[in-house]
Amino acid sequence: MIERTLVLVKPSGVARGLIGEVISRMERRGLTIKVARLLVVTPEMAARHYAEHKGKGFYDELVEHITSGPIFAMVVEGPSAVKVVRRMMGATNPLEADPGTVRGDFGLDMRRNVVHSADSLESAEREIAIFFPEGGELRT
Ligand code: CMP
Repeated sequence: MIERTLVLVKPSGVARGLIGEVISRMERRGLTIKVARLLVVTPEMAARHYAEHKGKGFYDELVEHITSGPIFAMVVEGPSAVKVVRRMMGATNPLEADPGTVRGDFGLDMRRNVVHSADSLESAEREIAIFFPEGGELRT
């Protein structure tokens, strides 16, 4: 099934010049970038995006990082895009991520794990609405 998902290059990834690397990998895999935006996440957006982690020990650090500088947000489309992208990004903890995945090749630690990608179709739509309130479609 053709799906769309949300991918973020986090502030540490943007600062390290990894936007192109992430895009390139997804394009070579046959995925399509439908719409993209460089933006600074507000504390309100961060709270919506990471609502499921509120109350956890690492929450404040997580919000601090995601709001610390520009991120690059993308809506990515392709067959089984949610699962394909998650596998390409690798395990959340870069220490456990396989070589050949984005986090396995570039991740530094849990916080600076370069990218975020939605974990289900439902999360994808919820997250797309946060970063692309106009709907995540290209407008002419
Ligand atoms: P992300 O895909 O952005 O989704 C939630 C983020 O929380 C995750 O990547 C990690 O950066 C971070 N995270 C998850 N678990 C932990 C943890 N145990 N300690 C620190 N950060 C975590």
